Parts: sequence; C-alpha cells; structure tokens
Amino acid sequence: MTDTTIDLGWSVERSRDRRTKRWSQFDRDTIDLTVAEMDLPTAEPIAAAVADAVARQAFGYPVPDESSGVPEAASAWLAERHGLAVDPDRIRLLPELMRGVVHAVRQLTRPGSAVVVPTPVYGRFFDAIAVAGRQARQAPMRVQNGRYRLDLDAIGHALADGAGSVLLCHPNNPTGTVTEPEELAGLAALADRHDARVISDEIHAPLRYDTEFTPFAAVSETAAERAITLFSATKAWNFPGLRCGLIAFTNPDDSAVWSALPRAAVGGVTPLGMEATIAAFRQGQPWLREALDFLATNRALVGDRLAGTGIGYVAPEAGYLAWLDLRRFGLADPAGFLREQTGVATTPGSDHGTAGEGFVRLNFATPPDVLADALDRITGALPR
Ligand SMILES: Cc1ncc(COP(=O)(O)O)c(C=O)c1O
Repeated sequence: MTDTTIDLGWSVERSRDRRTKRWSQFDRDTIDLTVAEMDLPTAEPIAAAVADAVARQAFGYPVPDESSGVPEAASAWLAERHGLAVDPDRIRLLPELMRGVVHAVRQLTRPGSAVVVPTPVYGRFFDAIAVAGRQARQAPMRVQNGRYRLDLDAIGHALADGAGSVLLCHPNNPTGTVTEPEELAGLAALADRHDARVISDEIHAPLRYDTEFTPFAAVSETAAERAITLFSATKAWNFPGLRCGLIAFTNPDDSAVWSALPRAAVGGVTPLGMEATIAAFRQGQPWLREALDFLATNRALVGDRLAGTGIGYVAPEAGYLAWLDLRRFGLADPAGFLREQTGVATTPGSDHGTAGEGFVRLNFATPPDVLADALDRITGALPR
C-alpha cells in the first residue's frame, strides 16, 4: 500500500476501536448512521504529523495563532482550492466552528438581532444561536428540480423585519446542496440593503463531487464585506476530536473586534489539531481524492437501492449525508420507526428545522456492505 491508498478493508470494528462517539451510542446490532464521521482510515500525512507531535509530547498550551503556521496553510489552501484570497493575519483559530457562530453572532451582528437560518440545516446552528442569546428565524429553502434553493424573498422579509444576520450552511448539511453563485449574490445584495451580516459555514466544501463551489465571500466585493467565513479541515479529513476550527475575515474591521475576545471565549484549540490541519491543507489532497471516490460509489449505491421504493433521494453535490424524504409513508416519527423496526439509526429530519419534518438524514460514509444492509432493512420495512 502506498501513502495515498485508502485501505478499503477498513471495517466498522476498526472504527469501534477508536472509542469515539461513532459506533458507541447503540448496541452492536444497531447500524448507527447518525454521527457525521467517516469509517475511513486517517490520511497518512495527518496520522504522521499527529504521531510526531505525540512523540514530541506536544501536550502543552498551543502557540499563538500567528506563530502556529495554520493561518498560512489555510490561506494558501483557500486561495488554491476555493479561489478566496484571505491574508493569513485575517484567519483565526477556534476549537470548533459552533464557538465561532456564537461569538460572531454576539460580536459582529446588531445587538439583540435575530438570525435568519435557511432550513433544513445542521441542528447545532439552533443551539449556537440560543447560546448567543438570540432568536433563530427559519427561512425554509425552496425545492426546485430536487435542488434546495435559498428563498431570498423570505430572507429579505426577515431582514426587513429587523433580523441582523443570515447563518448559511454552504454546502448544506443535510441536503448536500451547493448554493449557486447567483443565489449567493442575491443574498449579498439583501445583506447590503439591510445592513446585515452573512455567517457562512463552509466546513463541507472540500467534500464536493463534481460541482463547482464559490465561497460566499468570493462572490462579490459586497459579499466579502458582509461575510464571516467558518471552515476547517476537521470534517473533510475526519478529525473533529482534535479541535481546530477556523474563521476567516474578509471585512477588515472584524479582525480587530475578534482580537479583543478573551481566551475563555475562543481558546481550546489543541497543538495536535494544529499539526493535523497543516498536514491536511498541505498534503491531504491525494487522500481526499480517494475518499471522494469511495464516497461517490456509496452515494450511487444509495440511489440504486432506493430507486422505485417511494423514498425520495437526490444525490448530494457535497458531503456524505443522504437526505431521505419519507413523507409519503405518513410516519409520525420516521427516525424512531426505522430505529425500532429495522435497527438502523438515522438522524430525525426535524432536528434540522421545521422543513425537515418527515425526512431522515443518513450517513453513507461506511463500508458498502454495511450501507447495503442498512438500506435493505429500511426499504424492506416500508410499504411499496
Ligand atoms: C455544517 C456543519 N458545521 C459544523 C460542524 C461541526 O462543527 P464543530 O467544529 O463545531 O464541531 C458540522 C458537523 O457535522 C457541520 O455539519
């Protein structure tokens, strides 16, 4: 095996041996497809960087962001992969993205203003907004030819009504939709008109298949001024436990506000996470390409197994989450039904906002035989 060949023999047992949340929540007969982590081995350069840090016993407090090397690696990667120019001194570290949402909402949006959230969306967005002490205003997306699109009218109304920001998930968890540049430009124009900010969580962006991706901040000068961008290597390269998120400021005024935040607010990044992040951005591309090949095969397997079953599924443009529409089966609690009747654990669609009622979210980044078993159990339990 070369450095860049993923071990496709990776198994659920090996994931269990990691003794992290994935595969630890239920009994052994349950196929747990809830936690958004991949059943894949860690990229060799990342494992090597972390092993080296462990050998050096790099267990102390982290060095300051600006001498960590992470902003430089992240800036080069954003420029090369996303076409987004952000100076390293405008990139800061965070232990996790949701901490960034909390403090961006608190510090960089109008005091007390509500936050507009296009839904369905990653459920922790609602927690973060609540922790920030603000109201979330859901703006359900519109479905057009299977694609979820921003409802700019609804967002505009909420902003006109006093909301001070929009929290965007781009690409979207759970639907896997990559929001198109015209929609992003429309959003930027609205934010400008209503003096609002757009916090764009772009953590899933490296995991896109063949869809073009434009960061919100890169769509126009107006967008850059309005944007606060959250990203990391942790999701795409599968090391969320190492705690290293990133925030990029394309509005120069924001960096000064952020710099004044105390360590109690945004501290908690680990030296191991920093090393892993540098390795991912500088040497992680071959692994990522192979991971995406693996995921693309599973993505197609979901489509094949669900064809003609009445379960709605549109293959995601990014990410490894399948957003399954079970509305036609009239189940009060689709995830609860699947868990009890089939032993497959999925995430309730309602966790993703009111627009998720009747749906479930399923992680397909698992060995194909496990995935096929789960899908057969699901389709077997639902009437044709
Ligand atoms: C859209 C999105 N943002 C953030 C995260 C994780 O963020 P954090 O760094 O806060 O753990 C996830 C994890 O699934 C996610 O899907």
